[in-house]
Amino acid sequence: KRPVGAPDKGLARPVTKVGVVGAGLMAGQMALLFARRLHVPVVLTDIDQTRLDKGVGYVHGEVDKLLGKGRVSPDEANRLKALVTGSLDKAAFADADFVIEAVFEDLGVKQQVFAELEQHVSAECVLATNTSSLSITEMASKLAHPERVVGFHFFNPVAVMPLLEIVRADQTDDATLATAFATGKQLKKSSVLVKDAPSFVVNRLLTRFMGEVLKSVDEGTPFDVADKATEPLGLPMSPLILLQLVGSAVALHVSETMHAAYPDRFSVSENMKAFVAAGKTAVWQWDAQGNQTVD
Ligand code: CAA
Repeated sequence: KRPVGAPDKGLARPVTKVGVVGAGLMAGQMALLFARRLHVPVVLTDIDQTRLDKGVGYVHGEVDKLLGKGRVSPDEANRLKALVTGSLDKAAFADADFVIEAVFEDLGVKQQVFAELEQHVSAECVLATNTSSLSITEMASKLAHPERVVGFHFFNPVAVMPLLEIVRADQTDDATLATAFATGKQLKKSSVLVKDAPSFVVNRLLTRFMGEVLKSVDEGTPFDVADKATEPLGLPMSPLILLQLVGSAVALHVSETMHAAYPDRFSVSENMKAFVAAGKTAVWQWDAQGNQTVD
């Protein structure tokens, strides 16, 4: 059955090589998923060799974990490791059909990445973005071929979370959208077409949950009490642990985007701002007895 809003799948173009820009956590997880499900070469890139090596090393480490759990055979593990490579030279993307970026959550940075990519990829190569909050239409606006830009938003952990938000920019053409849906299906994700609105759908809900917990903390409720109070909601993970998984800097960006878009509905927690300003990456620490404490 065709997902709601997806164009005719006959329009989809084959994806035989994938590029991933940014070699951070989400990028590494995506690279592995593409290699595992599409069985095609995946090239990671980043701004320096250290980041790139770390990204490729992460992927290889995840493959070893899959091997250890018996989820992949030794042959499959070797094949996956060979499929995922790193290059600092974007010329390696010349024959890619699908490039996805997962760089810093900033419109200007992402526009620059796409503009640079256009110098290297074919006119038909899909340029996808894993942004969790920014406008895909604005991101595409400065390109020679904005019709091949699409939002392709995964959730962390990428290997486990089934949903994929596919976002159509004003300029996205049917062939690009059909390719995005066909790729989502190959990745075994449940794809939904969402409106190009700030933070799409899922992050609006998550930002609300995290925001209200953090606001309670701003008001004086202790961290652990505010977090525990969400237990009756039956979430798979408490909002503050989720904040840790997503990364507080990313979460802060998302909540700032939401506040700018809907100032009456979303605020930015003072606690979160202070937390990120102090360069902290985790909300919680654990003491010697295994109890969670506030960092
Ligand atoms: N990477 C890869 N695999 C992971 C993983 C990770 N970081 N974390 C967990 N897994 C895997 C485990 O290896 C395990 O796989 P196997 O069954 O093959 O062993 C499986 O997930 C289940 O893990 P666990 O049994 O350890 O733990 P769990 O049952 O508590 O599930 C969870 C863990 C899936 C993360 C669950 O807690 C959950 O669903 N949490 C909510 C996550 C969520 O809401 N994500 C959205 C974040 S928002 C976002 O990403 C968007 C954004 O743009 C900011």
